[in-house]
Amino acid sequence: MSSERSAIILAAGLGTRMKSSKPKMLHEMLGRPLLGHVLQATRAVGPDLRIVVVGAAADQVTAFLDEAAPDAQTVLQAEQLGTGHAVRTALDAYPDLEGTVIVACGDTPLLRSDSLAELVEVHEKTRQAVTVLTAEVDDPTGFGRIVRDSDGNVLRNVEHRDADLSELAIREINSGTYAFDAKILREQLAKLDSANDQGEQYLTDVLELAREAGHPIGAVVVDDPTEVLGCNDRAQLASLRRIMQRRINTELMKSGVTMEDPETTWIDATVKVAPDVLFHPGVQLKGATAVDSGAEIGPDTTLTDTIVGANAVVVRSHADQAHIGQGAHVGPFAHLRAASKLAEDAKVGAFVETKNADIGRGAKANHLAYLGDATVGANANIGCGVITANYDGVRKHHTEIGEAAFIGCDSVLVAPVSVGDGAYVAAGSTIVKDVEPGDLGVARARQAALEGWVAKKRAGTISDEAARRAKDEAGVSEA
Ligand code: UD1
Ligand code: CA
Repeated sequence: MSSERSAIILAAGLGTRMKSSKPKMLHEMLGRPLLGHVLQATRAVGPDLRIVVVGAAADQVTAFLDEAAPDAQTVLQAEQLGTGHAVRTALDAYPDLEGTVIVACGDTPLLRSDSLAELVEVHEKTRQAVTVLTAEVDDPTGFGRIVRDSDGNVLRNVEHRDADLSELAIREINSGTYAFDAKILREQLAKLDSANDQGEQYLTDVLELAREAGHPIGAVVVDDPTEVLGCNDRAQLASLRRIMQRRINTELMKSGVTMEDPETTWIDATVKVAPDVLFHPGVQLKGATAVDSGAEIGPDTTLTDTIVGANAVVVRSHADQAHIGQGAHVGPFAHLRAASKLAEDAKVGAFVETKNADIGRGAKANHLAYLGDATVGANANIGCGVITANYDGVRKHHTEIGEAAFIGCDSVLVAPVSVGDGAYVAAGSTIVKDVEPGDLGVARARQAALEGWVAKKRAGTISDEAARRAKDEAGVSEA
């Protein structure tokens, strides 16, 4: 297969310092695994082909790619003999590859697509053999250093552990992201040895080799040095996540979103937020969540794969795969589980749990209710303590509540059952038969009074005394 522009993403390392059964690349950071962010950045420069080099835990990485980037090809690097060896393995699998080859590391999730685009543009315009993306950092520890001559021309890269004292002082580092000419890359990779401190084949040696073979090489320096930060352990994962959080929040605030406390507002890179949304402190928005304008979210709210309509309000609540309609009100302390759908202006209040429930326009369940496998008609009123008993121990059943129906407090609707349009259910009822439109369903024992029971059975208690006082007072006022 021949290609004008392709990307190779190195993801064969396990990342032992993560101390994890999961490969480093698959650790999650604001909506995507580390590798997912790099894939997203490379997608933006429009390569004809994307190759991911897998090795350690290849099955897990491949499973992720099948799901998240089915167009990406994988190449197995059975033994991790170095970054140069990894690229060579990829090129060997695609012997006809031509044009520009972008190489990026799967563990640098903060790399911006704009920087990658600039790298490719400079590379292709200057017709350099190699263009490396570099950064000026305060602490270059662990990174390869970019060695330049007195005119500023790039000479080579030297790895931290192979560097001498003067090279260690260099603050321009190799990001691990490059654009190569495919043909020259292939030629130079064939010359790589592993005569270095790690005994590995270093991709970085291609810079010097290409230059010595008479090819022009160069660098593009990124403006924002955080873009090149890699992730080696979980402390770094946390600090990268913090940087990405600030980036996402800054973008959103610039676009017209208000955040009372950006530091406690965690919005996945995959989430969409319209202008004029207001976030109170302590909000997490995950996955495919989308929030329309004028909505107010938080404090202390987690929404996953949830759609929030314009001007809806969600207070101290938890929702997963829910659809909250325009102007609807949720919480405080509501739990909307999968396939909960609140139509416009519906209201779900404190300690109400919903699941697979279709709640009609303007319907209300203000306190302490469970609505599961249910349809609630427009403007229906669900009293405090109402339960749809949807599970018979074996199967789930549906409850249908009609438009403007009124379900009295503490009622149990034993599914399958329906309450018709405009029907009432008396408080404390256990409804097992359908209630027809306009009827009142009552299903509870009649109240009886055992006269003087306390005086007989609880004589001398404070209840008895209180009752006597009440009777005396009543006696005085009657007289
Ligand atoms: C590499 C660069 C260094 C640069 C740094 C930026 C080399 C020799 N050094 O160092 O100059 O400053 O990145 O982060 O390239 N990988 C494979 N197969 C292998 C070895 C590595 O796929 O055989 C993958 C790793 O999974 C990782 C990436 O390549 O995603 C970089 O490898 P790593 O070992 O982390 O290189 P660094 O030491 O960070
Ligand atoms: Ca690294």
